[in-house]
Amino acid sequence: MKEPLRILTILGARPQFIKAAAVSRAVQTLNSRSETPLIQETLVHTGQHYDENMSDIFFQEMEIPAPTYYLAVGSGEHGAQTGRMLEKIEQVLLQQRPDLCLVYGDTNTTLAGALAAVKQHIPTAHIEAGLRSYDPQMPEEINRLIADHICRFRFCPTRTAVENLKKEGIESGVYLTGDVMYDCLLYYRQKIQDRQSLILSQFGLQREAYFLATLHRAENTENPQRLAQIFEGLRRIAESVGPVLLPLHPRTAAALQRSNLPVPPQIQLIEPVSYLTMLVLEQNARAVLTDSGGVQKEAYFLRIPCLTFRDRTEWPETVRDGWNILVDADPHRIAQTAASLQRPQSEPKTAEYGDGSASIKILQILLEQFRPGV
Ligand code: UD1
Ligand code: UDP
Repeated sequence: MKEPLRILTILGARPQFIKAAAVSRAVQTLNSRSETPLIQETLVHTGQHYDENMSDIFFQEMEIPAPTYYLAVGSGEHGAQTGRMLEKIEQVLLQQRPDLCLVYGDTNTTLAGALAAVKQHIPTAHIEAGLRSYDPQMPEEINRLIADHICRFRFCPTRTAVENLKKEGIESGVYLTGDVMYDCLLYYRQKIQDRQSLILSQFGLQREAYFLATLHRAENTENPQRLAQIFEGLRRIAESVGPVLLPLHPRTAAALQRSNLPVPPQIQLIEPVSYLTMLVLEQNARAVLTDSGGVQKEAYFLRIPCLTFRDRTEWPETVRDGWNILVDADPHRIAQTAASLQRPQSEPKTAEYGDGSASIKILQILLEQFRPGV
């Protein structure tokens, strides 16, 4: 009998909880198909996100196993936050000596997790590898570049991601598996059907009669001019096209407070919501307005038009056939595009993100590498 593969999952920010939920569920599925557990997963939460509605709510709702380690790193400048994480993650690694570490996406938690693990010579897998914006100013771009270059396993959600790595000379340890966020959406989409009308009425919304917005990228929130322009675009939509609902990321809440920007009442600001609530709000919106990577994709998966407050995207598949329009921070373009929005003729090509089994594929590849023949 072989020992289970000991995986240490390092996470800490909202989108990582969602991605890890899919993979943790796949761990349970694979274990349930075997007489003895194939994988033993331990979670390390860095504490990068810590508000109840930025963290705990996802663990509860998505039944993510409770983290064994909570590092309480909290917020801070990049160097300070990443440095605290590195030090604390290293202690966990020295204590646990896992067979393998898993890191997700492109946050400071990703960078610290990958760096700490690789320095301890622990094989590490990067899930959502190969994405590029080619904007070196983006903190996420630096994080993902480094993670991709130092990790042994690179699990790519799309063919574009594989190509991006190839351009940087990375061809070994690269696997096209599909997107774990697509797995997650397919799994939870069935579970929201009976909640739709309750959630819509909770926020006083009618189907397809509102716009759902999210905003949190540093390039938008930390630049007062861009922040004001995006809010001007939202104001114009809210006043002449339809109401806007905006679950407010704490970074944006802080930026709004600093800037004293007036927010008109037609823009309904609410606290960040849970994943299932978010899916309901996305699925019933007339369109989604966002700068979030995950939200752009979910809109595409759900066949909801999306306007993105950026001049580029790591998810070019969503833009190609007109479902996602890059409106940058131009108030005129934002409002005009929302007012004249048509549903594209062709259906989204969701197969480019896999078939909903990316998480299982990733684990099977890792088991083949570490436990051949099980
Ligand atoms: C981080 C990621 C970003 C990701 C986003 C997902 C980095 C560099 N950025 O950005 O890639 O898209 O998470 O949401 O890792 N705050 C709270 N409570 C919390 C969390 C944050 O109040 O629970 C506030 C703090 O004022 C903090 C600010 O939000 O300074 C920013 O948080 P931080 O984790 O540094 O970056 P995000 O903008 O969340
Ligand atoms: N999300 C959520 N509640 C919210 C806003 C977003 O559950 O109030 C989910 C969203 O559905 C997606 C993920 O968070 O699954 C995206 O994370 P975020 O926008 O924070 O980061 P990004 O994807 O840009 O890194």
